[in-house]
Parts: sequence; C-alpha cells; structure tokens
Amino acid sequence: MSISIKNQQFHLQTPTTSYIMDIISTGELRHLYYGNKLHQDAKLEHTNLTMVLAESPTKDRTISYYNISREYPSYGRSDYREGSIHIQNDQYGDTIIELEYLSHYIISNCPSLKNLPHIRNTQDKAETLVITMIDKSLGLEIDLYYTILEESDVITRFSIIKNTGSMNLKILSALSLSLDICCDKNWELITLNGTWGRERKLERSPISYGAHYISSTQGNSSSSLHNPFGMLVRPYTTETSGEAIATSLIYSGNHKLNVELTPLDNLRLMLGINPFDFNWSLNPGEEFTTPQAVICYSSQGMGSVSRELHHFVQNRIINPKWKDHQRYILINNWEGTYFDFNEDKILAMAEEAKKLGIELFVLDDGWFGHRDNDFTSLGDWFDYKTKLPNGIKGLSQKISDLGLKFGLWFEPEMISEDSDLFKNHPEWRIECPRYIPCQGRNQYVLDMTRKDVQDYLYEKISSVLEESTIHYVKWDKNRNLTDIMSRELPVNQQKEFVHRYMLSLYQLFDRLITKFPDILFESCSAGGNRFDLGMLYYMPQTWASDNTDAIQRLDIQWGSSMGYPLSSIGSHVSESPNHQTGRYASLQLRGAVALFGTFGYELDPLKIPLKEKEIIKQQIHAFKKYRTLISQGDFYRIQSPETNVCSWGVVSSDKTEALIMVTRILSSANPTMIKINIPNLISSALYSVDELGITAYGNELMNSGLWMPVSNEFIKNTELSCFCSWNRSGIDPCFPDFSGMVFHIKKI
Ligand code: DGJ
Repeated sequence: MSISIKNQQFHLQTPTTSYIMDIISTGELRHLYYGNKLHQDAKLEHTNLTMVLAESPTKDRTISYYNISREYPSYGRSDYREGSIHIQNDQYGDTIIELEYLSHYIISNCPSLKNLPHIRNTQDKAETLVITMIDKSLGLEIDLYYTILEESDVITRFSIIKNTGSMNLKILSALSLSLDICCDKNWELITLNGTWGRERKLERSPISYGAHYISSTQGNSSSSLHNPFGMLVRPYTTETSGEAIATSLIYSGNHKLNVELTPLDNLRLMLGINPFDFNWSLNPGEEFTTPQAVICYSSQGMGSVSRELHHFVQNRIINPKWKDHQRYILINNWEGTYFDFNEDKILAMAEEAKKLGIELFVLDDGWFGHRDNDFTSLGDWFDYKTKLPNGIKGLSQKISDLGLKFGLWFEPEMISEDSDLFKNHPEWRIECPRYIPCQGRNQYVLDMTRKDVQDYLYEKISSVLEESTIHYVKWDKNRNLTDIMSRELPVNQQKEFVHRYMLSLYQLFDRLITKFPDILFESCSAGGNRFDLGMLYYMPQTWASDNTDAIQRLDIQWGSSMGYPLSSIGSHVSESPNHQTGRYASLQLRGAVALFGTFGYELDPLKIPLKEKEIIKQQIHAFKKYRTLISQGDFYRIQSPETNVCSWGVVSSDKTEALIMVTRILSSANPTMIKINIPNLISSALYSVDELGITAYGNELMNSGLWMPVSNEFIKNTELSCFCSWNRSGIDPCFPDFSGMVFHIKKI
C-alpha cells in the first residue's frame, strides 16, 4: 500500500491494484488508470491524449472535458455528461462550476465522517490522500478523500464540500464516487434488484450508449428495489476470471448508481446520494460531507472482488466487538405465532428451543401497547400486559433462567394512528398538510429529524433494554417514506429532509449502541429492504428476506453475497410448506441453505414432529462445529441458481477444509450427472470427503471435480446427513424435487 506523488501525478497502490490521476494544464484532476498494479514510476504518458477536437475551456481544443477522463466531473464547462457535483449559486442563478487543483496532503489512517457510517481504523495500516479542488469564482472548495488500506484492494472515496465565499449555494448533486474509463465500451453491468420477498436478484446487462441508472427514492430504504451496489464486468468475466470493478455505498438512504457511455466509448460510473428530490443549502462558512463509497478492482473474476469486499466489510465496517464474535443461533417466534402469543406460549417455545440447542430466543412483533395486529400501537414501547403479565422484564428473566439469551423486536421509526404516541404527538408523523398521508402496512413514519422524536425513542428503547436482560435487538422498518417533508424545516430546505432523516437515524443508532455495547443488533426492513453497508456499520447482521423458501433463498443469498459477507446475511429455517410460497421442501434442504448465513430457526418448535426435532438438533450441533469456518472462511460461488443446480461453499484461509453446498432444483428421470469443481484447495494435499466416502488430492477436486451421487442412498451417514436430502425423482412422494446436500472436505 502506498501513495506516491510525482510530477503532478498521484499514484495509489493497494496490494494488487493501482489508481492513478494527474493534474493537467487547466488545473483539472484527470483520471488516468484503475486496474492491476503498475510500476510505482509508471508515467502513462501514452494514455489519455485526446485527439478529438470539441468545446474546451481553453484555446487548446484538445482539452475538452467531454473527452477527458475526469476524477471529479461537473457540468457546464464542456462536459455534457452528468457530473459528481452540481451546484447553483444565488447571485447569478447558474450552475456552472470549474474546479482546479489547489493542494493536497496525506493523513495516516482513515478519517471519521461526522454522523455518517464510515470505514474504521484497525491495527492494519491505512493512508488517505486529500486533494483540495477550488472554484475561486464561487468560493467553493472541495476536499476529495481517497483511503487505501494495507490489507485490502478496496479504495474508499468521499468529499467535503465547503462554501468559503460570500454567495449562498445550493448543492443539487454531490455524488461520492466517479470513475471514468476512457475509450473502452466493452463492459457489462451487474446490479442487485428486487422487491419484498425477492430481494437482491442479480441482473447482468450489456451497457449501451447513453445513461442508465438504478436508484432509490424510497427515502428510508436503500434497497427496496435496487441495492446501492454495482459491478462492472467484461462480457467474458466469470466467477474465477476476468476483470471486475465493484462499487458500494456506505449509506442507507436514497442513492443513485449511474452508468453513462458516450458515443466516443467513454464510460462513466458514479455512485452517491440520489440527486433526485435532493437540494442542500450551503451558506457561507458551511460544509457538506458526502457518504463514503467503496470501489474494488480484480482481474480474477467476480468471486475475487466479492471476497475482497467480504473481508473489507468484516474488518472495516462491522463493529469490531462483533467481527469475530460468534453470532447466536436464534429462534424467532414470528412465523411460529405471528401476533398470537402470550407468556406461557413463548416460554413453552423457549423451553423446547433450548432442548434443541438454540442459544437465543427472539420475541418478534406484538409485545407492546395493545398490538394484536398491524393496525395498532407502534410508538407505544411499553409492555402489553394482557399477553405478558410479567412484562418483558419478567419474561426475559424466565428465558434467562432457561439458559437462553433473549432478543426483542422494535420498529422505532414508525407510528400507528391507534397509539398513545399519536394521541399525544400527532405532529410527529411525517405528512404534507395538503394531503391525507399515505399509509403503508397501516402505519406512518415518524419525523426522525426532530430532536424530540429522537429523544423519545432513545429514552423509551433504553428503558426497555435497561430493565430487562436483553442480548439482541431486531430493528425493523416496514414501510418507505411518502409525503416527504418536515414541519421543522424552512420552505427552502425541504429537499434536505431525506438525508437529514438518515443523519438523525444514524445518530440515534450511535447513542443506543454506545449505551448498550453488548447488545447484538440485527437490522430488518420488511425482510431485506435496507441491506447496505451503512446499516452494517451499526448492526452487524441484516435479515435477508421475509421469504424463507429454500429455493428462492438461493437467488437471494447468491445475490447478497456479491457485496456482503455471510456473517451479515440473516438466514433461518422455517416451516414447510413455506408461508410465503406454499412450497414443500425437506428440513435438510432448508437447513443446507440457511447454514450459509447467520443461521437460525423461525417456526414453532412445539409443532415439530419428533423425527424432525432430532434432525434440528443435529443441524444445530453441526452449525456450532462449523460456524467459524462459515463466518470467517472465504466464500465461493460455484454454480449459479440461474441453472438447475446451485452450489456455493466456504474454504478456510489455510485451505485445509471446505464446506460445500449443492442443490438441485428439479430432478429428472435419467438425469445428467452433476459435477462440482471445488475451489482453492492445496493441490498436492490429500483430502477426505466423508459424506461421499472418498479421498482425493486437492488438484483432483479442483480440476476433475466431485461427482454428485445419484440419490441419498449413496451418501454416507455423517454429522452432515441432517443437511442432505438428495432425491431421485419419485423416491420421496413428499419432496419429489428440490434436493440439497452439504459436504465437508478435510485435509488428511
Ligand atoms: C417484517 C419482518 O421482516 C418480519 O421478520 C417480522 O419481524 C415482521 N416485520 C413483524 O411485523
């Protein structure tokens, strides 16, 4: 890792990549190169000489900002593409900016961002280059921050925009990251899209001329529809080979990922706060900090860039307290009871769960106010005594006495019309005075930008957490923002609302997490609709989806793994038939898929047949044995769920063991044999695969691959049998299709 600066050129070197920029005669910061590591003295004189004559800010017609690769582009001075920064001044009303280089300096380590989640300092070294750009005519100064890390190829970027002049400025757009790739259109774009129950489905599409973007306008949801993540890949890039550039935003509000290809084959990738419906007043003396964005390059395929991100998230985003801390195997009562429970029922479930080996009991929605359905009580964070006569305090004590940890659900950002809170503070609800506010799941959103709302939530949640024995909190949020405005903001600042909402929410997280450092927080948003690095900074795991159907989870977890580590992906085994899809799947298959995540159960353990209880016990036992490998090992996507067979697995960093999952979605008569090539073992080492009763050398397993058996009869009885149901069509009338198995590969 190094930052070298010579002859007006900045060269950032990560362990295997180089990122290079220079300053040209106009003072413009030009982007020169991003890719595999180059010699520290690489001059790159031969690149980026534009031969195309066009409009130019100087007499030199070759300097056209439309054709030059720019590091921090703006509109109006010969660049016709959308830029990173767009600012309007109140003296002339125009939006023209031309920034030139002023100075730079280097700081050791990672800077902290005020009120925004950001990469953390660790024992590993980091360095940050700060380049100051200036537009003297506006009194505008922008510091561009580039952080590189000793242990990772990830580079992070953000900027601080300062009004040092005398005009009032309006920030219309302030994106965190921009990457220009010159004269090279040979890329495709991967994005993660979805909706409730179908989150983060991977889409790979060619990039055509013009601009294409994905974005969020849902306000308090980063990923209801599109995740703040994208990856540029070559058409020939696979999991194991070819170039890939991934980018992700450490932010949970409205975002935009923009890709623009000009007819001159110049590609621009940008990521940051969505400029749509955004407008920030920057008066003289004020500054604005953008969220941090992450970028990572690999020439070794998508898998390699994902693994870099996984390690980065584990090391630099997740709260260090939880980084290596074993996540509790939990049971959540939501699908087991929905709102229909009382203390006796919960205790009986907990007692049964304890017998199965579960470590944490999570009481979900319905414990507060008089909440028997989703029409009521959000905001009334006090015990529902009819259901819980001894309150959360009494219940949590009894659950502790059983030898289980206890977790509790909250949905703090919301308010029900039928609540004491609404009676007392109707003005805390977000609404536009001209309309009846839109409801979502029969509920409304609190104006989180208000200090009185933040303090109310801080005090209410604190008092529940203080008086009871609570080890885990599930922070849910079940609707998006509509009717966006705040009574507290002046008319000309209403478009600041969504970003202010996020800043306030982050502040509340900070206060609560500082006060309760030992509580594990899991975020949730009607499933996985706020799955982003911003939330993971505060809450180390995210409920991936309300859809617990094992087959659909293949897509969801496959897509999630593009940018997020397994330790962050909430995954539970639920009942069959599945409540969301009605599909039957064996307990073994449901377990096999959930195993590759935080792992837990979401069902009523009292309803499970004895035979299945034994299987669950074995699953829990096996998870306990392999959980360090699962959460700390290197994750490999092997075969995509786009095909009938899906496979993935983890390999330990010393390559001595691997845990591999294979599923076959539909069985067929006279089937084609399935072969899985195991990734990244030691070529010359001998391994055993007990489930298949074989031994093989690493290079055999990697190159020749492992043939999957035709059916369960050929799988040996091992501790992983509880994850194996590999059926031949027609053998098991209940589960004719949907087979799954997990096997362990161990160096002998
Ligand atoms: C949505 C979540 O995703 C579910 O897991 C559950 O907590 C419900 N909300 C409760 O209302």
